[in-house]
Amino acid sequence: MKKILLLLSITSIFSSSMNAQTPVYKDKNAPIENRIKDLVGKMNLEEKILQLNQYTAGMNTNVNNIGAEIKEIPSGIGSLIFFASDPNFRNSIQKKAMEESRLGIPILFGFDVIHGFRTVYPISLAQACSWNPALVTKAAAVAAKEAKLSGVDWTFSPMIDVARDPRWGRVSEGYGEDPYTNAIFGVATLKGYQGQKLSDQYSIAACLKHYVGYGASEGGRDYRYSDISAQSLWETYLIPYEACVKAGAATLMSAFNDISGVPASANHYTLTEILKDRWKHDGFVVSDWGSVEQLIHQGVAANRKEAGYKAFMAGVEMDMTDNVYFQTFKELITEKKIPMAKIDEAVTRVLRVKFRLGLFDKPYTDVVEESKRYLNPEDINIARQLAAESMILLKNNNNTLPLNSTKQIALVGPMAKDKTNLLGSWSFNGKDQNVESIFEGFEKEFKDVSLNYAKGCDFDGTDESGFNEAIASAQNSDIIIICLGEKKSWSGENASRSTIALPAIQEKLVQELKKIGKPVVLVISNGRPLELVRIEPMADAIVEMWQPGVAGGSALSGIISGRINPSGKLSMTFPLTTGQIPTYYNMRQSARPFGDQGNYQDISTEPLYWFGHGLSYTTFEYGNLKLSAQKLKKTEKLTVDVEVSNSGNMKGVETVFWYINDPACTISRPMKELKYFEKKEIEAGAKSVYTFEIDPIRDLSYVDSNGKRFLESGDFYVMVGKQKVKFEIID
Ligand code: BGC
Repeated sequence: MKKILLLLSITSIFSSSMNAQTPVYKDKNAPIENRIKDLVGKMNLEEKILQLNQYTAGMNTNVNNIGAEIKEIPSGIGSLIFFASDPNFRNSIQKKAMEESRLGIPILFGFDVIHGFRTVYPISLAQACSWNPALVTKAAAVAAKEAKLSGVDWTFSPMIDVARDPRWGRVSEGYGEDPYTNAIFGVATLKGYQGQKLSDQYSIAACLKHYVGYGASEGGRDYRYSDISAQSLWETYLIPYEACVKAGAATLMSAFNDISGVPASANHYTLTEILKDRWKHDGFVVSDWGSVEQLIHQGVAANRKEAGYKAFMAGVEMDMTDNVYFQTFKELITEKKIPMAKIDEAVTRVLRVKFRLGLFDKPYTDVVEESKRYLNPEDINIARQLAAESMILLKNNNNTLPLNSTKQIALVGPMAKDKTNLLGSWSFNGKDQNVESIFEGFEKEFKDVSLNYAKGCDFDGTDESGFNEAIASAQNSDIIIICLGEKKSWSGENASRSTIALPAIQEKLVQELKKIGKPVVLVISNGRPLELVRIEPMADAIVEMWQPGVAGGSALSGIISGRINPSGKLSMTFPLTTGQIPTYYNMRQSARPFGDQGNYQDISTEPLYWFGHGLSYTTFEYGNLKLSAQKLKKTEKLTVDVEVSNSGNMKGVETVFWYINDPACTISRPMKELKYFEKKEIEAGAKSVYTFEIDPIRDLSYVDSNGKRFLESGDFYVMVGKQKVKFEIID
């Protein structure tokens, strides 16, 4: 007893003497809010304004935003985009902030860590096709660890923009066309980045982007206007953001698009009324690159000063790179246009994230030698597993795949030996030498088979001089595997395409090889759904491998050989032609859904492959849906079961998608809305029961154009596969 008392008194003497010298904001035992208050109270105006600005450090490699390397970094700057991966470089900049700025406020180092850092994972659109959020969390945690060890505290990810126009290059960065899917994978990703708490050793802060409605850019063209009704804002675009804010996302990025006349980066309604007032987000919002100054081009600000005023007053706390806040705020504050209290609130929000990350107490990055920082074999295995689970068997006529007794494989096409493009867009730190190509995967997989390689043609252009070599390889083989696709630069920012078909040269290669009369397998690696209308009929089988990152080669070869039974399913619909855009599964019903009314005269209105499509080497049979009740009250729950049997002779993995439909509602509802999914492995000949517990308030309600939620009584349907079963909600 005495000993304990003695200890306590020593501790209290120590902490009181520390309090006497150390300001509260430096006391790591003081509550964060007290530390922020103390610090803000000590800051002068210049210091506050600097906290609201972000510059770049290192040579900017973002091709859409090239600018000169900034040599003079103010030691009091709020944040830097860290175009480097050397922790010593970061620490040298941070040292200046800690030691040369008056109050020693650490800089927040941000970077675009989108689908992995050095261990590059499949693009986000592909990750969603795995329907395995737990695996996605693991991948994001590895990305966070590698980024953290490279000096990054904050990633501009996840992108949760619902995107329904595959011409838009940025569809590759998000999780597809469905709000619920974006919500689930957004949350899974941010959990991986942020870990249990932001101050954990390998946690980094997430940044939800691009808030909001960026995916609706007109014509799929980047930086364009987006006409979004209040109804679709709430029921489509805001859904993933609300889920991710509730899951604790530290920050958000305001978007480039103009939402029906009020740009996303000057939108008080979305940035303040919804995000801060209704959802109580207490972190901060950073603008997108130059999106403050761009308010001038968007026609809502006459000059930089007005642009800065509008963005800030709407709720953008930090200005990414365009220096508007830095140059105009002093004047705006002196003129009393921007109240000091608003500046203090913004600074508080920025500092809150820094304190939560533990930057004040541990401002420097641990320096671990480069060979130990990246590409840990276990982490590459996660990349391989995620690549395998996200690949999709789109077509498999007459069980062309897997290859059983093949002796000679023709492996042709521009993607067959390519490494660069398998990385996908936004993979700055990925290196070609770490990528497993398709060819390398095949070499390991098919040891007793001859691989007859020929490139055939390039990704685009008109040079057919390689066709003959490809034809010769094919003639000497039992099967022709044609590896086609998109370059990584065809996706990402400012990478829109007017057609989502592959260039004519690639289609022509398929035509020429088809003439040989041997089975044709298409392997496609791309960052968006493609128009396959001309080449799909020539293929006996098609495998979508997306842009799989570092370990896609052996994931693909495992699928081709049958070592891996494919299980991925599409997170975005493949339209039949570009002219069918927009086509997405959760469209609303036509007023004339019968016969040929309201259809195109020249092509079918059915897409080639719907959201959720994906085949397996085994067959799954679904039993009848079993509902625990036909009628229920709004406060009751309904359990729906379906028994799925693996009726083939290979173990397989099946994802069951649970949709609902409300056929008569005050505000019309989509024909189908995904509400839940479950993925399970089933042994050959075995069965498994999948269950969805419907919570009417959560699953059957809808939001109106004000974001208010309603649940109406009446008939509903629950849908799985081809089954559609009615039940009723009673008052
Ligand atoms: C992109 C953002 C990105 C930012 C920083 C912008 O051009 O739109 O997605 O996070 O640059 O690199």
